[in-house]
Amino acid sequence: MAHWVTIWRAAQLVGVPRGALQQRVRAGEIELNEGLVSTDALLALYPRVRLEESGLLERVVQIRDEAFGRRLRERVLPSQEVLAQRLFRQSQELADVQRHLQRYHALVLSLRERLRGLDAEAGGSDPRFTEVLRQLNDGLARALATEPVDVLDVMDDLLKVMSAQVTVRPSGHQFTVEGHDSLLQAGMKAGLKLNYGCGNGSCGMCKVRVTSGQVARCMPSDYPLSENEKAQGYVLACAHTAASSELTLETLEAGGPEDIPVQTIVTSVRAVRALAKGTMLLHLQTPRSHRLRFLAGQWLTLGLAAGDDTHAMHPIASCPCDDRNLLFYIARRDDDALAVRLFGGGLKAGDSVTVHGPLGRFVLDETPLPLVFAACDLGFAPVKSLLEHALSLDAAPSMALFWLATRPDGHFMANQCRAWSEALDTFEYSAFTHEDAAIGAGQMATAMRADLFGIDSAFYVAGPAAFVEALCADLLAAGVPQAQIRSEVVP
Ligand code: FES
Repeated sequence: MAHWVTIWRAAQLVGVPRGALQQRVRAGEIELNEGLVSTDALLALYPRVRLEESGLLERVVQIRDEAFGRRLRERVLPSQEVLAQRLFRQSQELADVQRHLQRYHALVLSLRERLRGLDAEAGGSDPRFTEVLRQLNDGLARALATEPVDVLDVMDDLLKVMSAQVTVRPSGHQFTVEGHDSLLQAGMKAGLKLNYGCGNGSCGMCKVRVTSGQVARCMPSDYPLSENEKAQGYVLACAHTAASSELTLETLEAGGPEDIPVQTIVTSVRAVRALAKGTMLLHLQTPRSHRLRFLAGQWLTLGLAAGDDTHAMHPIASCPCDDRNLLFYIARRDDDALAVRLFGGGLKAGDSVTVHGPLGRFVLDETPLPLVFAACDLGFAPVKSLLEHALSLDAAPSMALFWLATRPDGHFMANQCRAWSEALDTFEYSAFTHEDAAIGAGQMATAMRADLFGIDSAFYVAGPAAFVEALCADLLAAGVPQAQIRSEVVP
């Protein structure tokens, strides 16, 4: 019998990006029934799905083999208490189904006896009794026959214990809670723009209302919810996790940059590392209790210690899903005081850097279209942030990254890009080198024209002004609507 699952769960079960499955729904290859997909239809579309190939068993086996891999266990499995609660609820559901089945079975058997009695009273002369009795016996035989188990049902049951599925209202966004993550951590890892402040249970900004399902506390919190709020089902998302396999929350998410407050945080330098000649990685870390809320693709002003007015604006090169670790790619430039200090050896691990922001509107739109990212030189920084955010969202049907370097050693993160390309079927990476950014943009446009301009896609373009202007002009000339192009000048 078909089992119905959400698109999110369906994508997890067959191991494809949610966007790829949604595209097949739009193409009419698979039908939705009230937003749900039947496991029969899924198996027809992905007949090769097998439990052994899904990675689920692998994950469980891995855990058993690496008995001392505590961190791995924490990432994959919830705490013992949460696991026990989810198992308890699943067992309750199973017991309920079993009880109903036993009652139906008893009812069918007693009806059969009654029919036999009526048939006997009629002297076995009424063919209608014979026909109904035959139908009953055949039906019972079919219902009690042993059939091969539906692999997707088994996988779905396993996933329900290992991870919980959360739906956010009114947006309809969904995410999965895995391991020891709180609702806030899991939502952020999935790329949602949830409201929060401290991340440690003291500010109350992450309040959400639980409208169905159960939660469990996963961290102590100081913020006092009123009795009224508690009665209405409010909890702190940073201090709770999902205790049931399905959960619905009510909360507002940030719509765009205007919903993100400007913050000032004193961070410390975690690492400084040369990436290429003339390009350094600056890794800043916020205090555990004061993280930075930002959107992928935004910028920060970085300033040195009080009394020192060395500061400069740089795009963040990391994903908002890790709001403690902020990465920046800094180029050697004489007009950038921070870069001068960095390349001069005046900034090292443990030093303080004050960050102020975020700023900028080069952010990811919610779109069902394939995503095309085009970067030149350090334009790769905001593009990488957007790309990592898009990977967390897992909603794009496909992604392509084009990276132009105006110096031979300019693809300083090429290994990472190739790793994405190898790991993801729906991701393509192409590298270009030309010392003239505008000519390089033209070459990139030619390559895109070969296989992308015919596809309705959303384009994100970042780099020096000459590159951005040239590529955007080519995109517009090829008929890409202006509304599907976002661009950012990164000098
Ligand atoms: S983010 Fe501050 S209490 Fe949750």
